[in-house]
Amino acid sequence: MRLAIVGAGNVGKVLGTALARKGYHLSAASAQTEDTRYQVSTLWDCPVFSEPYKAAAAGDVVFLTTPDQVIEKVCLEIARQDGFHQGQVVLHTSGAHSSDILASAKNAGASVLAFHPLQTFPQLEVGLGALPGTYFAVDGDEEAFHLAEKLVEALEGKLLFVPTALKPLYHAAACTACNYLVSLMDMALKMYEPMDISPSKAMEALTPLIEGTLRNIRTLNPEKALTGPIARGDLATIESHLENIKKYKPELLPYYCSMGIYTAELAVRKGTLSKETEETIIAMLGGEQK
Ligand SMILES: NC(=O)c1ccc[n+]([C@@H]2O[C@H](COP(=O)([O-])OP(=O)(O)OC[C@H]3O[C@@H](n4cnc5c(N)ncnc54)[C@H](OP(=O)(O)O)[C@@H]3O)[C@@H](O)[C@H]2O)c1
Repeated sequence: MRLAIVGAGNVGKVLGTALARKGYHLSAASAQTEDTRYQVSTLWDCPVFSEPYKAAAAGDVVFLTTPDQVIEKVCLEIARQDGFHQGQVVLHTSGAHSSDILASAKNAGASVLAFHPLQTFPQLEVGLGALPGTYFAVDGDEEAFHLAEKLVEALEGKLLFVPTALKPLYHAAACTACNYLVSLMDMALKMYEPMDISPSKAMEALTPLIEGTLRNIRTLNPEKALTGPIARGDLATIESHLENIKKYKPELLPYYCSMGIYTAELAVRKGTLSKETEETIIAMLGGEQK
């Protein structure tokens, strides 16, 4: 099976190299700049084009691994230049878009897939090392699902089927788990500032707590992993948090409160907080009564 990589950047290089090592034939690649084309030509033994349609035409499976904002446009340009044909599978690796943005390839007779690795690929070697165990979220044409299974198996990953219409929600979940976790950590570090504890020291001190919490979430579940004053209904402690955040870091108060309101609902589900105390906590945190 011939693979064409259109946009051999971080993800294109990682997936192309990993699949080539498993015996897939890289038939062509493309990149925008001469720099990348040179890099790719030293990495793979295949023609490297500046025109995406020339690379696409040489593949049974076409990876459109360009940046998100140009996938649809590049796909349309390739279709206009007859780079797609019947029987091809065309896929992109964006988490934010569904396979719908590949409609022009589908109109040209190809099957389409979104094939999103739930992983981060800053560089080739790091990316190759991170592949085993990585989940790939797949949506698109059912006739291409078998190919998705084969690719994921070769990449030593795992499959996650996502309904096409719910792809943005899938991506919102990934951003919540990844980006918002980063923001929460940043908030915690800011609360240490008035104590003259440096961010690096604070991070070092918080790391065992964070890692223990992640382990508990994974081995138990979020409800069972929840501890702390909201889970216990400890109103005096919550009040002291609010007073201190208001005094030292007032800009963080809205975020502390909105996460607290969510946490109160979680504590009710856990079974350690009564509905009545939940109402009190929600009022303290400035939320609307249910
Ligand atoms: N990186 C990650 O961690 C990661 C993780 C999961 C999913 N993804 C998804 O994977 C896709 C690729 O991301 P990436 O990080 O690999 O991007 P990237 O490193 O920027 O690579 C993009 C590639 O597309 C080429 N390109 C850029 N604009 C183009 C255009 N208008 N026409 C044709 N080719 C063009 C670039 O060429 P030049 O190199 O010559 O500029 C480069 O080869 C995105 O959909 C992204 O959301 C990325």
